[in-house]
Amino acid sequence: MLLFPARGLFRPARGPLRATPRPHPRRGSSGSGRRWLLSTPIFYVNGPPHIGHLYSALLADALHRQRGLLGPGPGLLATGTDEHGLKIQQAAATAGTSPPELCAHVSSLFRDLFSQAGVSFTDFIRTTEPRHRRAVQHFWVALRDRGLLYKGVYEGWYCTPDECFLPEAQLTERPDAHGRSCKVSLESGHQVHWTKEENYMFKLSEFQEPLQKWLQGNHHVISPEPFYQLVLRWLEEDLPDLSVSRERSRLQWGIPVPDDSTQTIYVWVDALVNYLTVAGYPDTHQAWWPAAYHVVGKDILKFHAIYWPALLMAMGLDPPRQIYVHSHWTVHGQKMSKSLGNVVDPVACFNQYTVDGFRYFLLRQGVPERDCDYSEEKVIKLVNSELADALGGLLNRCTAPSINPSGTYPHFSESCFRKGSDQGASSRALAEDYELVALVAHLPRQVTDYFDHFQIYKALESIIACVRQTNGFFQRHAPWKLCRDNPAEKCWLDTILHVTLECLRIYGILLQPVIPATADRLLSRLAVKPEERAFTDVTFLPRYHGKLSPFEGRRLGPDTGVLFHKLETTRRRPMETKGP
Ligand code: ME8
Ligand code: MG
Repeated sequence: MLLFPARGLFRPARGPLRATPRPHPRRGSSGSGRRWLLSTPIFYVNGPPHIGHLYSALLADALHRQRGLLGPGPGLLATGTDEHGLKIQQAAATAGTSPPELCAHVSSLFRDLFSQAGVSFTDFIRTTEPRHRRAVQHFWVALRDRGLLYKGVYEGWYCTPDECFLPEAQLTERPDAHGRSCKVSLESGHQVHWTKEENYMFKLSEFQEPLQKWLQGNHHVISPEPFYQLVLRWLEEDLPDLSVSRERSRLQWGIPVPDDSTQTIYVWVDALVNYLTVAGYPDTHQAWWPAAYHVVGKDILKFHAIYWPALLMAMGLDPPRQIYVHSHWTVHGQKMSKSLGNVVDPVACFNQYTVDGFRYFLLRQGVPERDCDYSEEKVIKLVNSELADALGGLLNRCTAPSINPSGTYPHFSESCFRKGSDQGASSRALAEDYELVALVAHLPRQVTDYFDHFQIYKALESIIACVRQTNGFFQRHAPWKLCRDNPAEKCWLDTILHVTLECLRIYGILLQPVIPATADRLLSRLAVKPEERAFTDVTFLPRYHGKLSPFEGRRLGPDTGVLFHKLETTRRRPMETKGP
């Protein structure tokens, strides 16, 4: 099942050279039409946002923007904050504030961060909103009326930071701060406490087989593949019923169970239902369901790939269409944590690397299958070499007044760059140039394929490889050595500029989902109008195919300076090195 079914949107050139092989065989269309509801996880408000949270949101944003560029929506991108539960109740107590105050404050930090980051959310949900309380209570009553809840005494180890019960097999012993041995979660390392209380239970065990069937029939519903396999393995183990409420005496900060004032709804049920709330549940969700696509971190996979689909099935609703899973960011090889004091503040990163510079780093360097490491040196090296030097340098080379004095998209000469094997004496293009043209013609399709398979980093890798090859093309033909007064040389010089500008136009269009502001500057400099920026009608180098180009002869947009300024390390900031 594909997230973004491509429908012959691109018309790669059928040149003499075969386009490079497609990265993946195309899979059947999801038949979802053009509607999509893409979500990020909703974030706990027990602490300020860090770069891992930002990464979750950027992945979803890039997918959402890319999908929008494939044609008009309607599409939703929902994000927000997860504000109930013991963890938040305790965090507020520790901070000496009330839960509502803590939630309002931290929620606004997330909202402001995402706005600054250019996350194009269409909805920002807070689980303390009345619309959500109504959705959760409605959901609860429907579950109850379907006979899927029962009351039972539950006892087990509860992990508050993870907000879940854990079986003995998932625990280990570790000394606490006073050297006393205590039980912790194997996966997260967080301490657990023995809890015994009367709770409502959800008949999760009844869904083991339906879940297995659902997954077996939908091989691509969870990507990347290793996470799909992991969920299948989980489902081979026992699937006990799930405790879905807490005693109100212990947990006041949550949505009360309807008709039972002694119980509060479990925060994970509350949180997961947010995806329905943003779809307008219980009134208008049918318009969006089941076109739901969730981006989640690997630590919350079980909740999204087992509990959530089971809850949806229990309600007679379809499970999500796709679950995109990403791994974690570490810092200098270490897990980010407050106690280690190595939590990376995304706002400081934006100040240091610019918004697009840091977006580019996270999405280019982040590989969903595995944990990735952040360091200042890595960001600076990558962003300088790819955005400032390769991309910015290329734009500068073909728009500089010394080489392009008319400030236009110059004329493409078919006799200088002959199509196919039919090369006359006047043709100056070399075999590598034909390779470049074939590669760039195929690029939009390749990028779309990579986005479809949640491999944004590979999409960027293939774009930047083309940028480098285009620089190679420019270098190879050294147009600065050609003489404008010689008509034959001028023809070839203009053709080189035309081809380079065409390549840049494609790169600008394809980079929009990842570095929207920089792509806008690039496309504006190339005088590409807003209505010419969709992925749907990107035709590369039409003149090569003997077709008209709407760009040939067009005046370039205003010169707004360097596309991307080189970043400096904090140690060598001019302000710090300058004398008084
Ligand atoms: O789990 N690198 O919220 P959360 C990458 N409220 N991603 C990271 C990360 C890191 N170092 N640390 C955390 C919750 N994340 C629940 C979700 S959804 C109905 C409820 C990711 O604030 C993490 O994997 O603890 C998750 O996807 C997201 O940040 C929110 O984590
Ligand atoms: Mg977490």
